[in-house]
Amino acid sequence: MINIGLIGCGNVGLNVIKILKKHSVSIRKKCGCNINIKWICDKDISRLKQINMPHQKLTSDPSKVILDPSIDILVELIGGEEIPKKIILEAMNRGKHVVTANKAVLAKYWDEIFSLALRKKLLVYFEAAVAAGIPIVQSLNEGLAANKIQSITGILNGTTNFILTKMTDENMTFNEALKLAQKSGFAETDPSLDIDGSDTAQKLSILASIAFGNHLPFEKIYREGISQISSFDIKYAKDEFGYILKLLASVRNENNKISATVYPTLISKEHPLATVENEYNAIYVDGDFAGDIMLYGKGAGGPAAASAVVSDIIYLARNIFYGTAGKSPYISYDRNIKINLNPIEKIESEYYIRFITADRPGVLSKISGILGRNNVSISACFQEARYKKRAVPILMLTHKAKEGNIKKAINLIDKLPIVKSKTVVLRIME
Ligand code: HSE
Repeated sequence: MINIGLIGCGNVGLNVIKILKKHSVSIRKKCGCNINIKWICDKDISRLKQINMPHQKLTSDPSKVILDPSIDILVELIGGEEIPKKIILEAMNRGKHVVTANKAVLAKYWDEIFSLALRKKLLVYFEAAVAAGIPIVQSLNEGLAANKIQSITGILNGTTNFILTKMTDENMTFNEALKLAQKSGFAETDPSLDIDGSDTAQKLSILASIAFGNHLPFEKIYREGISQISSFDIKYAKDEFGYILKLLASVRNENNKISATVYPTLISKEHPLATVENEYNAIYVDGDFAGDIMLYGKGAGGPAAASAVVSDIIYLARNIFYGTAGKSPYISYDRNIKINLNPIEKIESEYYIRFITADRPGVLSKISGILGRNNVSISACFQEARYKKRAVPILMLTHKAKEGNIKKAINLIDKLPIVKSKTVVLRIME
């Protein structure tokens, strides 16, 4: 029998208990042994009344679980960073294997956690930390282990994908769509972590760290959120040029130079990622031998996250039961691998640019002159018939250009008196 202790019993924890009970027979066959929930710890044990567990298994004191020598696997499902980090490290120092769903802790303390795991010969599983029910961690770590990963591109946040879908399909404003997302229950407690791209960048940090074999810290990922996006640009990019806007996480390895970014990105409406709507997530991986693979599914919500947590428990329990747990590390982690990050200024992309300008002779030549002098080449241009108050939107697409050159050019253009409001620039993924 394998004993587990669960710390944090909100929506995900309750679903973990539900799965372990409902599928106990098939789970026993998969592990070779029974899984016994020995402790359930939550700061508010009154809400655990609904789960019908013997009272002596419930506690609000995490140290009861951490200090219990019979616990084989500690399952950490609380939010935040510092307290869960402490719980994970303390449990490992007492020889326990860990399952966690905590992306923030992993994105920040990857080095500490995985160097301790190596030293102590322990396993830390974390499938639920990225895209909940989608088995992307297993896929990168095992299914695609033969490959050098060239790129990972993902829609990793359900809340922002839901908002952008509603803005695209139903013409909602950003605020209307955000309210609806919050009501639907998949936004973070603090939705600014979804909106500003932090949640996505934490998940990308984890995926990149698996793919490259060393930590790519979350803070080093260039990040922009979606709060400044207007439905106007979503509509124009779609109607005039056939692009759909998504908050894309991307990591690319080009000749051992790594680009890691999270920002709103236009993609062709034919691209498989363009069809990923509402709260769904998808991850598109390019392996040098496997080629392109896309995983799609529910990236948020209690049941989907619990599915990933229980899969981790099953793999771990099986390893413990057969005496192989920790004999080899779960992920490949080598502090000496150098990750050479491309600064954002050097990253190349095609761009959608929207100017609001006076409608008079010479405007286009001034703008295109500045772009040309900064090595930005225009590939398409569109201006609607005269607009209200004689200010007009001018839409341009560019060929590939360096981000640094685009920024320099737009700074100069925005200082021209003919330019009537801040120019909008969106990257386009090829
Ligand atoms: N708030 C996240 C999302 C779910 O909207 O995808 C958990 O990571």
